[in-house]
Amino acid sequence: MRIWVYPGSFDPVTAGHMNIIERASGLCDRLVVALLRNTGRTPIFTLEERLRMLRLAAGDLPGVEVDSFGGLLAEYVRMRGGQAVVRGVRRASDYEYETQMALMNRRLCPGMDTVFLPAEPAYAPLSSTAVRDVGMLGGSLAGLVPEAVRELAEEKLRRMK
Ligand code: PNS
Repeated sequence: MRIWVYPGSFDPVTAGHMNIIERASGLCDRLVVALLRNTGRTPIFTLEERLRMLRLAAGDLPGVEVDSFGGLLAEYVRMRGGQAVVRGVRRASDYEYETQMALMNRRLCPGMDTVFLPAEPAYAPLSSTAVRDVGMLGGSLAGLVPEAVRELAEEKLRRMK
């Protein structure tokens, strides 16, 4: 059974994340979308909100499971019996950071690999940070986040203005 893990902060989940989830889940038997609980930055959305949005957006996709983890990603992947981590890459600068992380994870868990999926051009400018900025300034999140979570995300961000 090929188990891959797609980790992230998902603050909030974006349409770009969904594109990676759909593509990656077609390449493995089970894709575990894993939300990091103890991120160094203070997230805008609470852990519960981020998990809820991820479940609404991806919880029913075939072969996809939503979970959360704390501590080292390599440990979590090992505990789940996974073979690979999936990461989306939007631009060259992403690649530099991602390669460093992939090599550290491989060092921590020999045999584990990272699969990079290039962002489709339509999603390349999309990030959780950009989504938060647009939402906080009252812009529509249509097309930027999955439709199932749009209202929830827009409401919370507007309140933070
Ligand atoms: O969505 P993000 O914020 O780009 O995701 C970053 C994430 C969660 C993949 C990364 O911060 C991570 O794996 N953190 C877990 C801690 C860890 O294992 N660190 C060592 C890897 S260099």
